[in-house]
Amino acid sequence: MSFPHSSESIYSISPYIGGDVTPPGFTRRVVLASNENPYGPSEKVKEVVNNYTNRIHCYPSGAANDLRAALGRAHDLDPSWIVTGNGSEDILHLLARAFVQPGDEVLISQHGFGVYKIATLVMGGVPVEVPRIDFRLNVEDVLNLVTPKTKIFYLDHPGNPIAHYLTNDEVEELLKRIPSHVLVVFDSAYAEYLDDSNYHCGFKWVDRYPNVVVTRTFSKAYAMANLRVGWLYAQPDIIDPINRIRPPFNTTGLSQMAAIAALEDQEWIKKCVQLNKQVLTKFVADMKNLDIPMIPYMSNFVMAYFEKTQEVYRYLGERGLVVRPMGAYDLPQYLRITIGKQEEMQELIDVLGSCPHR
Ligand SMILES: Cc1ncc(COP(=O)(O)O)c(C=O)c1O
Repeated sequence: MSFPHSSESIYSISPYIGGDVTPPGFTRRVVLASNENPYGPSEKVKEVVNNYTNRIHCYPSGAANDLRAALGRAHDLDPSWIVTGNGSEDILHLLARAFVQPGDEVLISQHGFGVYKIATLVMGGVPVEVPRIDFRLNVEDVLNLVTPKTKIFYLDHPGNPIAHYLTNDEVEELLKRIPSHVLVVFDSAYAEYLDDSNYHCGFKWVDRYPNVVVTRTFSKAYAMANLRVGWLYAQPDIIDPINRIRPPFNTTGLSQMAAIAALEDQEWIKKCVQLNKQVLTKFVADMKNLDIPMIPYMSNFVMAYFEKTQEVYRYLGERGLVVRPMGAYDLPQYLRITIGKQEEMQELIDVLGSCPHR
């Protein structure tokens, strides 16, 4: 019998399964399951972490003033329009907590990042799936699903596990037509990896639209997933309620200082992004040579299709190569593979080459 909970709907929530969870018999030697940056953070970040010993007994700045100022300088944004959190996942939850009431609808793209649905259900909200056609979102489909009850549209931008984004023209069209009672949340967790004039992470629309929010993270290109720093940028009418409900110390002093140091070393981010692109390009060519189909890719992971997906997953895991099965995303035939270092991807290609289940 389950322990009685004030909201029975909590039992409709499937817990998030991360890349840290693997079946027995697997060896976690090469982990390509969580879209982490394999090169690690900047040396400046490591220096901050190594030296952060004499302030552990002090509470951090709850408002993360210095970090918000540094983010403002780095991205040319008003720091008072920024809120930081314990990863961007925390921010995605805070948005639902502030703006979704029981029975409200929340638009989530098909195969969208798992946290959107959990954050919605926690509030008694109703997730409404926006279909993808050939893995692409379409503005008309989003608009057709909006009702007076729609409160949020979580737009994965670009998506995980489906790497697609709405182009600047499509976003303009969406924002012109979507009713202003719908908060459009651009989850731009992978923005650093994109270099395309048709793509914008969303900051430029925040100035023009009071219903636009952009979320960003230090977990991906900045390689600080373990330090848990995410943030949002939005107009004051969004910031104010979020700050009222935000746990007061939802980023640590250590992570704030590490994030400031990371922002000061943009050369390192550029280098990581460039290395990722090189390794991705070669890996994609090698996968094509093996005749393994993939969904279009663009950031630091690919989605590979297999007939015998579970068998391939096990074959890799038992040889120390951990990738991510996508059953929880309604894509049971796919394995998501993070782009690691060249030698790791070469090993994966070699093992796939000899895999009898492929
Ligand atoms: C699309 C997307 N958004 C948000 C996140 C959350 O990242 P974090 O909470 O580490 O900032 C992830 C992590 O995998 C992601 O893929």
